[in-house]
Formats: sequence, C-alpha cells, structure tokens
Amino acid sequence: MQKVVKYRCPSNIALVKYWGKKDGGVQLPANASISWSLSDLFAETTMIATPSNQTQLVFKYDGNPKPSFEPKILDFLTRIAPFSDFVNQHSFEIDTINNFPHGTGIASSAAGFGALALCIADLEGQFEIGSNEFYQRASFFARLGSGSACRSVYAAPAVWGEHTDVQDSSDLFAVPFEGHIHESLQNWKDCVLIVDDGEKKVSSTAGHSLLKNHPYAEARFKQAQKNIGNILQFMQQGNVSDFIALVESEALQLHSMMMSSIPYFTLIRPGTLAIMEEIWTFREETNLPIAFTLDAGANVHLLYSSEIEEQVINFIHTKLLVNCKKGLYLCSSTGGKPLKLS
Ligand code: PMV
Repeated sequence: MQKVVKYRCPSNIALVKYWGKKDGGVQLPANASISWSLSDLFAETTMIATPSNQTQLVFKYDGNPKPSFEPKILDFLTRIAPFSDFVNQHSFEIDTINNFPHGTGIASSAAGFGALALCIADLEGQFEIGSNEFYQRASFFARLGSGSACRSVYAAPAVWGEHTDVQDSSDLFAVPFEGHIHESLQNWKDCVLIVDDGEKKVSSTAGHSLLKNHPYAEARFKQAQKNIGNILQFMQQGNVSDFIALVESEALQLHSMMMSSIPYFTLIRPGTLAIMEEIWTFREETNLPIAFTLDAGANVHLLYSSEIEEQVINFIHTKLLVNCKKGLYLCSSTGGKPLKLS
C-alpha cells in the first residue's frame, strides 16, 4: 500500500562549529557542535513510498522533476538502507521546497535532509511519532545525508558529537540540550545578511576533508570540545558577553581553519569583513546584545535578542545593507520545532 507523509524542518546555525570528520564511519564529527534551529527558514518535503523490491526514486522541487538531484538523494537512501528495512522495501517520490530563495548561499541541505529523515522515520513507524526515540532516529538518518542536518530536528539547542558535559551525546545523532537556558539567551533571532549569493568555491565536503592533513586540526578539535563546555555554562548562567565572544571566536576559527588548510582557501568576502567591523562598532557604542556568526560561506548571521529587534533592524538598514547583495537579508526566530504537515 502507498503511504504519504509531509514534514516541515527548520534550517540551523551552529554556535560551536563542526568542521572535520573522524576517520572511519560515515559523517562522524571530529568534535562536538551545538546549534540553534532557524524556524522561519525551512524545507517542506512530501514523501510517497510505494512497496517495491528495488529502491527507486523520483525527485521533484516544487512539483517540477529535478533528475539532477536524484543521485545525491539515492546516495542518501543507500546509506540509510543497512539500518532500515523500510527503505530497502520501497520506492520513493519526493517533492520538496525551501521557503527561502534559491541562490542566496543559505545551506539548504540541513533543512532538506532533516525533512527527508523525518518523513522516513515517520513512515517506517518504528517509534511513536514525537517521542525522543523518534527524533533520535530522524537525527541519525539526517546525519547520513549531511552531518549538520542531524541538529535540525530539535527545537532546543542541539548538540551533536560526544561530550562529557552532555548526557547521552553521541557522534551518531544529535540530542536536545535539556539544561535550563537563561532567559537572556532565549528567544534570540538570526538575520542572515546575504553578502554573496553565488556557488561556493569549495564545498563543505571538500573543506571537511582538508582537516585530514591540517597542521592545526588537533588543536582546533580540542578547542571546540572546550568551547562546548563553556558555551553551555554561559547559556545556563546568562553570561551574554562571554557567549558573544565565544560565538564570534568560533566563526573566525572556522574560517581561519579554511585559510590555513593545505591547499588554503577563503570563503569570506570584503563585505563579510565590513559587516563584522560594523557589528563591533555598533556593539561598542550601544552595548546591545548582538553577535555575528558565519557558516561555510560569505554570508553573515547576525544574532540578537528579540527584545532589541527594532534597533537591530534599524542598524541593518543604515549600516549593513550596503554590503548585502541586492540589499537582501532574511530573518528567523531560533528554536522552532519540525512540524508534521499531513
Ligand atoms: O553538514 P555539512 O557537511 O554541510 O557541514 C557544515 C559545516 C558548518 O556549517 C560550517 C558548521 C556546522 O556545524 O554547521
């Protein structure tokens, strides 16, 4: 019998970054990472599963066939197959859409693989929908698509990778951080300032692999583990200034690892630096709680407490938009949950 399901899954932004994989296994992180989900930047995916003794796939984007995406998704299904009889015994029609414009440089893989993984975990029916085991299974599947996607299935800050300070943390899936987050670090927002909307020169996959022979890799992995312990303390205590310093340091460490890879590369652009400097000046002048972070690209994620939204939007318009491609920026709340839509 044919089964149909539809999920919405948010994108996420890492506060402590995953950059580099462990040897062996598929997509096992060299260090733990933590992220906020971005509930207003999401993918919506419909999956139709038909019993079949061979896993076949039709992939559509917003109703239009996209055969060029099929090898990547088939590869994902092949990685899941050893863990799921359901995947082995079905063919799939998948129709997906992102609510953010294409070609903005915003990674769609976290939301996309997150939504796909939720559909599969739901249809295979192994765990009660909405239970911890259900989200853990979805997170496990999502990781096999794109590492950082495994953090997208939780509303709470999600930790992926083994860490002594996080109970049940694992390299295989992300877990929600259960500790109480201080109210000064709840309800933050993220405005993504689009500095560059082109294809990245170096993919994340290639970037991760350059950590293999990287002169500073071991020191970076150690630092990231330490930063996870620290950021969790800052978030629980409401230590906003140390939180901001740590988040910005993580963004710069990520990009300095790129610049010191062999061969080296850069993803930040002059506009990225100009925005960072404006943010530092603004913070010095106003003392308001804002921070930047970066993912593997030139765009700047401006994180701020929702209480100061008006000042931040005004700041974006007066100082930052000149550095945004076509004046484009996209804002989201943090901490949204995935949704089952049908
Ligand atoms: O999940 P991937 O392979 O696209 O790697 C993502 C890496 C960063 O976005 C740079 C950091 C992170 O933890 O999300």
